[in-house]
Amino acid sequence: MWDFFETVRHRHSVRKYRSDSPVEKEKLHAILEMACAAPSAGDLQSYHIVVVETQTQRDSLSQAAEGQAFISEAPVCLVFCSDPHRAESEYGQRGRELFALQDTTIAAAYAQLAIVAAGMASTWVGSFDAPQVRELLELDTLNPDSPLQPVALLSIGYPAELPEPTPRRPLEKMISYR
Ligand SMILES: Cc1cc2nc3c(=O)[nH]c(=O)nc-3n(C[C@H](O)[C@H](O)[C@H](O)COP(=O)(O)O)c2cc1C
Repeated sequence: MWDFFETVRHRHSVRKYRSDSPVEKEKLHAILEMACAAPSAGDLQSYHIVVVETQTQRDSLSQAAEGQAFISEAPVCLVFCSDPHRAESEYGQRGRELFALQDTTIAAAYAQLAIVAAGMASTWVGSFDAPQVRELLELDTLNPDSPLQPVALLSIGYPAELPEPTPRRPLEKMISYR
C-alpha cells in the first residue's frame, strides 16, 4: 500500500484501460466511500454521484463528451453532479454558485486518489455537453425538487498504459507568501 504522497505522485490521467479487468464491486464501493468522506460546506454534501457501468450508457457518455473513446472503453464512469439547491438552502447565492461546485469537485478529487490507492486509474473529463448528459442519465428524475448539474466525469479501470508524468509550473510561480 502506497503512502499518501506516493499515491498523489502515481496519479496520472490514463486513457487506455484493460478490457479483461472489470472494476471489482468492493473496490468501487470503497472508492465511493472515500469520495463521500471529502469535506463539504456545512457537511451538506451538495452533490450526487451516478455510477455508469453499462456499455450502452458509456457509449452515450462518450458521444456527449466529444467522442472521447476512452469513456466507452473504461469499464466504469462516475458522473459527479452538483446539487446547487441543496447548498442554497443553507448558504444562499454563495452556496448555489460556489459551494455546491466545490463540494462536488473535492469529492471527485478524493475519488481520483482512492482509485490510484486501489490500483486503478482514471481520467477527469470536463469537456462534455451538460444538457445531453442530464438527459441521457435522466438526472431530472433522480432529484426532481433540486435539479442536478453534471460537473465532472471520471472514467475508471485498470490501466493499459503508463503515461509520462505531466509537467507542472514551478512552485514559485504558483505560490506567494505575505
Ligand atoms: C477540470 C478538468 C477538465 C478536464 N477535462 C478533460 C477532458 O475532457 N478530456 C481529457 O482527456 N482530460 C481532461 N482532463 C485531464 C487533464 O488533461 C489532465 O489532468 C492534465 O493534463 C494533467 O495530466 P495528469 O492528470 O496526468 O497529471 C481534465 C482535467 C480537469 C481537472
